[in-house]
Amino acid sequence: MVLRRIQDEFGPLPAKHNLLLGDFFNTEYLQGCFDCVVGNPPYGGTFDPDIEDRLDRLYGVWDGHKLKKETYSFFIARSLDWLAPGGTLDFITSDTMLTIKTMGGLRRKLMDTSSVSIESLPSFSDETTQPTLVLHAVKDGRCPSITIDGAVLRRDLIELTGNFSWRIEPEMARYFRGPTIGQFFVASSGMTIGRNELFLRKIDDGSVAEPYLFEFFGDPLTLEKEVQRARLHKLSPRMRQRIEAQQAAGVVRRNVRAVDVPHPISVRLPHPDYKYYNKASSAIVYEDPTTAVFWRDDGDALLTFKKNGPWYLHGVGGQPYFGREGLTWQLIAPRLNMRYLPAGYILDSGAPAMFARPGVPYDELWFVLGWCLTSEATRLLKTAINHTRNIQSKDVERLPYPHWLLDDRKEEVVALVRRMVEDAREGARFDRFSSDLLKLEEMFALPTPIGGAPPVPGLDLFGEVAARRMRISKTDEDSLRNKAVAVGLAVAELDLKGG
Ligand SMILES: C[S@@+](CC[C@H](N)C(=O)[O-])C[C@H]1O[C@@H](n2cnc3c(N)ncnc32)[C@H](O)[C@@H]1O
Repeated sequence: MVLRRIQDEFGPLPAKHNLLLGDFFNTEYLQGCFDCVVGNPPYGGTFDPDIEDRLDRLYGVWDGHKLKKETYSFFIARSLDWLAPGGTLDFITSDTMLTIKTMGGLRRKLMDTSSVSIESLPSFSDETTQPTLVLHAVKDGRCPSITIDGAVLRRDLIELTGNFSWRIEPEMARYFRGPTIGQFFVASSGMTIGRNELFLRKIDDGSVAEPYLFEFFGDPLTLEKEVQRARLHKLSPRMRQRIEAQQAAGVVRRNVRAVDVPHPISVRLPHPDYKYYNKASSAIVYEDPTTAVFWRDDGDALLTFKKNGPWYLHGVGGQPYFGREGLTWQLIAPRLNMRYLPAGYILDSGAPAMFARPGVPYDELWFVLGWCLTSEATRLLKTAINHTRNIQSKDVERLPYPHWLLDDRKEEVVALVRRMVEDAREGARFDRFSSDLLKLEEMFALPTPIGGAPPVPGLDLFGEVAARRMRISKTDEDSLRNKAVAVGLAVAELDLKGG
């Protein structure tokens, strides 16, 4: 039928052809046998479960870097393998491939094997809102740069970002040459409960209403239930055998159920059975807790519920950080909505959080919160680090740390942000146009050279300050200072002597 449609549209087929209709991943060709591959692969599609793990082993990693298990990335990876030397690949595909860390392996594979150019498509199809692009690659060996919408992007710039970003802009390089936030803070996602309504309670005027009693019971183990819980609903023959034996022996697993109480019980917080729960919110600076979680006996009921659910609920994301003081933000947001997270909270996956690494001075919390509230931090994050709607924990770790601020300015920031959080805890509300936010924008602005002279090639003003902070050798410092003097830049402002 497909052949007939092709004939109808393009005219009679040649007497001999190799047109095949089948699953791309279930068809074998010799490596390197095609001169040209053209495609518009599905995004977010699923794989035949029988071959999913095999494909992941074949294409999931390139040179130690991940290729996300996504239909389009595996279509591209496999097509590259099938191309002959000098062959070309042209794909319409999702633009998520440009920045996200989990596609870093795909970007590397492309650059390690081919010359690459990208053309953004302003609009593509009514069927998708996902921004798309045309990827053109010629398999002619490793390339030192790529072309994006006509502009050349060098590999050394791409390498500056922890995510091997194809969206770093040359003027951003100065930010990315210093340390990152991840050197001071460790960021983590939180957990997914599976059924929030069973365990989360909205805080209303300092109280929650509890509609359930939780009952623990011994749940008989059955093969059927275990298959339902398993990843891809598959169990190895050994596991099956073991479960069948356990089922025959009447083994039970500890499970929990929620029983309705006739009238919800009002509980005043704080209460030993409840903890504050860090739900995502668009608030910045600070927000009073809005939600509590039933957490009697260290969350026994909730954790038991998760353990009995499908395989993807078994992990407890962020558990080592539960209760710690730090910073938190909304996972899905057009900008970095960062706020202070007091001690004592249980973490939700919708609001990643970060915590000072051992030995990091306490004031860094306020300093980094101030930086993350600037539009410049959001711009770097949403342009170069991850331009999709998600702001993952590791994305924030990859943000440049504001190394260009000298100590006196840093103290001012710390005092300001500490006061902002105190004010917010007293009821003040902040938005992007609050005067304190605008002040932070100014305080974190990169210093400009005297007389507004354009940046001088070879001299990286901000790299210098970073170097001073990181205590580079005296000789290097001298040579940097000489370069700065030679071009008449704001050496005094850099205060290299104090280093
Ligand atoms: C984005 S559509 C493109 C359709 C068409 N080529 C075009 O450009 O209009 C992706 C197509 O890939 C097909 N597809 C998805 N997974 C596939 C696989 N594993 N093997 C072959 N085709 C697949 C889908 O059926 C769908 O027709």
